[in-house]
Amino acid sequence: TYVVTDQCIRCKYMDCVEVCPVDCFYEGENMLVINPSECIDCGVCEPECPAEAILPDTESGLEQWMELNAKYSAEWPNLTSKKETPPDADEFKGVENKFDNLFS
Ligand code: SF4
Ligand code: F3S
Repeated sequence: TYVVTDQCIRCKYMDCVEVCPVDCFYEGENMLVINPSECIDCGVCEPECPAEAILPDTESGLEQWMELNAKYSAEWPNLTSKKETPPDADEFKGVENKFDNLFS
């Protein structure tokens, strides 16, 4: 499965949802997550993300994000098409340790 990591937080470009063939992205206030039981591992979303926030779960050190994607994809609503990107998205692009911005 593929995993959305903290680089999505406050960037939320949503180019990923446009290409996912199984519509398995779920929307929180400041980031999206992937439902690991719906993702078919096709990989097409990874290069679409301008923030490079999407990674395959075969990469090391993603446990926190795998848990977060599983948890919130069960709670947040499904998102199948791109909305307007947050106006300050570019200011958060590449910023480290954005976890504290998950809900703010
Ligand atoms: Fe969707 Fe494919 Fe990305 Fe999984 S890897 S979230 S199926 S686009
Ligand atoms: Fe987030 Fe990148 Fe999608 S910033 S919303 S994972 S295109």
